[in-house]
Amino acid sequence: MLKNIEVTQDLLDYVYDHSYPLHPVQKDILNHNKTLGDIQRMQISETQGHFLQLIIKLYKVVNCLEIGTFTGFSALTMALALPDKGKIITLDHDVKISEVAKTFFKKANLENKINTEIASALETLKIFSKNRRTFDLIFVDADKGNYINYFDLSLNLIKKNGLIIFDNVLWHGDVVKKSINDKQTQIMREFNKYIKNDRRTEKTILALGDGLTICRKL
Ligand SMILES: C[S@@+](CC[C@H](N)C(=O)[O-])C[C@H]1O[C@@H](n2cnc3c(N)ncnc32)[C@H](O)[C@@H]1O
Repeated sequence: MLKNIEVTQDLLDYVYDHSYPLHPVQKDILNHNKTLGDIQRMQISETQGHFLQLIIKLYKVVNCLEIGTFTGFSALTMALALPDKGKIITLDHDVKISEVAKTFFKKANLENKINTEIASALETLKIFSKNRRTFDLIFVDADKGNYINYFDLSLNLIKKNGLIIFDNVLWHGDVVKKSINDKQTQIMREFNKYIKNDRRTEKTILALGDGLTICRKL
């Protein structure tokens, strides 16, 4: 059987040290998040950030949508990889946290490239759908109970061949633990099953960070 290596913190630090250097404001956000205690885990990992940047560059993404801004690490990371004409809309219903993200976007001189919308993601996706908005990449990292809704609505917004990417799909590894059956774990299992059976996209799960599902619209 093929064996995967165990990714220890030392190994992760080595990976970070030998990957894209971080922008100073990315470092600022990481340092800020470290002061937040447990909710720091909401932020995507650096390896996930590097992966999103690579995908954006390879796929020549111009229009990007993010669901779940938090303090802005993923939005800023993606914006840094976009071309000059590229734009990202990032959605969050939390006013306070969005204001924190906006200060970092401004500090990085990226407030023209990043549009921070403070709104319910579900309602906004419905409005975008009505207005026939389209995106090359949609990154979903918000309330897991709506992941299936976000997927179905995103299919109206994503261009053919575009990517819809979901975070936390391995849910700390709990999705395979038979003894763990709490609501959030069950929600994530249901979502993974739904995506597996979907015929409108081609998909794969990457065991990066907390697990990323990449769906390509056929
Ligand atoms: C996991 S965090 C996002 C982390 C961010 N992508 C990063 O890497 O820093 C999830 C965010 O989604 C927001 N959120 C949760 N449910 C939402 C909803 N229904 N509509 C809009 N935002 C929502 C929360 O306020 C929170 O800031």
